[in-house]
Amino acid sequence: MTATIIDGKAFAASVREKVQAHVAHLKASHGIVPGLAVVLVGEDPASQVYVRSKGKQTVEVGMKSVEHKLDADTAEADLLAMIKDLNADDSIHGILVQLPLPGHLNEDLVINAIEPAKDVDGFHISNVGLLGTGQKSMVPCTPLGCLMMLRAHHGSLSGLDAVIIGRSNIVGKPMAQLLLGDSCTVTIAHSRTKDLPDVVRRADIVVAAVGRAEMVLGDWIKPGATVVDVGINRIDAGTKEDGSQKTRLVGDVDFASVSAVAGAVTPVPGGVGPMTIACLLANTLTACCRANSIAEPEGLTV
Ligand code: GUN
Repeated sequence: MTATIIDGKAFAASVREKVQAHVAHLKASHGIVPGLAVVLVGEDPASQVYVRSKGKQTVEVGMKSVEHKLDADTAEADLLAMIKDLNADDSIHGILVQLPLPGHLNEDLVINAIEPAKDVDGFHISNVGLLGTGQKSMVPCTPLGCLMMLRAHHGSLSGLDAVIIGRSNIVGKPMAQLLLGDSCTVTIAHSRTKDLPDVVRRADIVVAAVGRAEMVLGDWIKPGATVVDVGINRIDAGTKEDGSQKTRLVGDVDFASVSAVAGAVTPVPGGVGPMTIACLLANTLTACCRANSIAEPEGLTV
């Protein structure tokens, strides 16, 4: 079998179009512009790339984008004071503090200082609790993007066996809640799971979110299963003619062997990655609609 490639780039473009159309409607009918504030502490190069991309796409869909760049040695009290100001700012509907934070800052304390209604990452304990109990919440962007692609590919997910590899708060745990909400039978596997290939072989849906390059192999996959690859790993790809190092972006899934067995697979790059930022924009729009008691657009959240 040769797997269908799930085109996350095209899917993300369709989500952004939907967001853009609704933003235009909000402006025209209500005079409201959704606003997203992104806070970056320090100079982590990968985080800088993400933040730039988020800002650019926010503006492209017609929203207001605010970026706050703070020094790596920013005091926790100063960061908390900035979040307090953003919480009180009516022109800001979404707040995202880029992670990871420098070691001297308490991530839990910082994230839980964000007003839950503006927590477009869905990381605040209130949102985690709301999602876990099936109530309306802000949903973490990466799992939301994965769910949108799975729903689009399968229609109903009811009764399917889902195995998530990885138990992070950002992806694994919320992904499990979302798939449970869609009536999957969910297993969360992780680094201590016994007989991991056997566990994965049971799955109709595999979500790989472990952060280990090309770990999931074709002979772990049930023929016809759908495989969602959340990994983004930069690996060595030899040397260039000028002697400098070449790198290549790969997922947690060994694409060549898995795509020969799976029914469908998301590629890296061009799969889950573009959906994450598209869902951040969708969450900002959702937060803006809720803040103004305006009906939310269909299909942009769970
Ligand atoms: N760093 C890596 N992924 C994320 C994310 O989804 N949100 C935030 N805030 N930081 C991240």
